Formats: sequence, structure tokens, C-alpha cells
Amino acid sequence: MDYRDKTVLITGASGGIGAAFARALAARGSHVILVARNEAKLKELATDLHDSHGIRAEYLAADLSEPCASDDVVEEIDRRGLSVDILINNAGVGMHSDFADSDPARIRREVALNVGVLTDLAAVYMSRMTQQGTGAIINVASVAAFQPVPHLAVYAASKAYVLSLSEALWWEGKQHGVKVLAVCPGATDTGFFEAAGANADSVGPRRSTSQVVNTALRALEAGKPSVVDGLYNAVAVAISQVVPRRLALAVAELAVRASGQG
Ligand SMILES: NC(=O)c1ccc[n+]([C@@H]2O[C@H](COP(=O)([O-])OP(=O)(O)OC[C@H]3O[C@@H](n4cnc5c(N)ncnc54)[C@H](OP(=O)(O)O)[C@@H]3O)[C@@H](O)[C@H]2O)c1
Repeated sequence: MDYRDKTVLITGASGGIGAAFARALAARGSHVILVARNEAKLKELATDLHDSHGIRAEYLAADLSEPCASDDVVEEIDRRGLSVDILINNAGVGMHSDFADSDPARIRREVALNVGVLTDLAAVYMSRMTQQGTGAIINVASVAAFQPVPHLAVYAASKAYVLSLSEALWWEGKQHGVKVLAVCPGATDTGFFEAAGANADSVGPRRSTSQVVNTALRALEAGKPSVVDGLYNAVAVAISQVVPRRLALAVAELAVRASGQG
């Protein structure tokens, strides 16, 4: 796939996997539009990518869990006269706590970000890409998409939604020249665990953000609907699909209790 002179919109681009996507694609000659809340980090990354690769790097500070956030983002991108060739729906948060103890407003924001904004942006840009007969969407799901996860219940359910939506859109998109992929990372070396309120120190081996990005881009180019990052994660997911659901739940609960894995 030729990424040169393509414009890529990346949510959650101020750090972690989103920033790694931005670096990888800028290095391949793509222009980037970076969205997240932390404006200082976005500006620093945009400047660095522009200076290092000579690409156009725009940024837009927005809290995507706010109502109508996606409308505002699309409107601002249109106002700047930018057209999006590749959408990377990466922004996402997890909340490591029992459902009954969770703040309902926090649950609402988690669903709005992980499910609502991702769906809204996919709807707008898939429609435009379909009209153009070309484009790509990468949605960042998780290995948590494959089974329910106690203590991360809303997060795992939101990622199951992302995986299901992405695979259905993959089917619809391929008839119109639009590629759709769900990438499912396991534990990855980012600020995710601290943000989730998990014990980051007890998380086991983590994959690097560049490994996740390379896995995603290879799968996108191969035309796959979804991909699990890393052999260990892929084996764990495969096992979770064949054991009884209750056993998968028990193992997921143990893993979360031991490691705070997202
Ligand atoms: N790390 C893992 O182990 C792991 C595993 C599986 C899946 N994932 C998924 O990978 C994706 C990226 O996470 P990460 O690991 O890179 O975590 P991260 O380092 O915490 O990055 C999350 C990104 O999302 C942005 N973000 C969070 N809340 C936002 C909001 N309300 N509005 C706009 N942007 C917001 C953050 O930027 P600001 O704070 O500047 O807003 C940041 O850029 C998520 O969807 C996550 O579920 C991660």
C-alpha cells in the first residue's frame, strides 16, 4: 500500500499506540492530523514529524468523550480543507474497577470514547471513502474483545463492539475499495495501565507500540479484517475461543487481577 501523500486522521495521537502510528506513517510519507486532549504533546509531535519528514502535520486538541465531539472534529477538518484518506480510530480508555463501584459518569465517557466517537468517525469517513472508491480505516480493539473481562467489564464489551463492527465493515468496504481492519493488541508498553487505574508494575511482558503498528499495517496491506498482535496473544485468544465460556471468564478474571491487563 502506498502511504505517500495520503492524509491520516489519528485519534489518541498524543502518546502510546496513536503516536506510534503517526511516526510510522509520517516516515512513509503520509500527512497526519493528530487528535487528543493534550495540546502541548500534539504540537510537539506534529512539529517533530514535520521537521523530520517534511510532511504536513496538523493537530486538533479535543476531548472526544464530550457530546458532539466527533461532529466538531469533522467540521474543523473540513474547515481546514483537509480530506481524510486513512482513519485510525485509536483513542480509548479502560477503567479497572468493579462495575458496581464505578462512577456512572465515567462509564458514560468510556462508552462515548471507545464506542460512540469511533462509530461516528467511521460512519462519516467510510461514507466519503466509499464515494471515492478508496480509503482505509484501522480501529484499535484489544485481546479483551474476545471474551468478557470481570473488573474491566465495560472496556472488554466496548472492544467486542469494535471488533464486531470492524469485521462487518470490512465486508461492506471491500465491495467499494475501502479497507477496514481491527487490530487487537495485548499488553503494550504505553500509559494505558496507569490511566486505567491498574497496577502497572505488575503487568507482565508488554509488546512495543511499534510492534503493534507493524502488525496492523501488515494486516491492512494483506486485506485482513482483524489481527491479534503477537504470537503469545494470538495463541491465548485462540484458546479462549475453544474453552467453555465460564472457564474463559475465570482465566480473564485471574489475568486482570494479577496484572491489570487491558
Ligand atoms: N496498552 C495496552 O496494553 C493496550 C492493549 C489493548 C488495546 N489497547 C488500546 O490501544 C488504544 C491506545 O491506547 P494506548 O495503549 O496507546 O494508551 P495511552 O498511552 O493511554 O493513549 C491513549 C490515547 O488516547 C487519548 N485519549 C484518552 N482519552 C481521550 C479523550 N477523552 N479524548 C481524546 N483523546 C483521548 C490520549 O491522549 P490525551 O490524554 O492527550 O487525551 C492518548 O493519546 C486504546 O484504544 C486502547 O484501548 C491498548
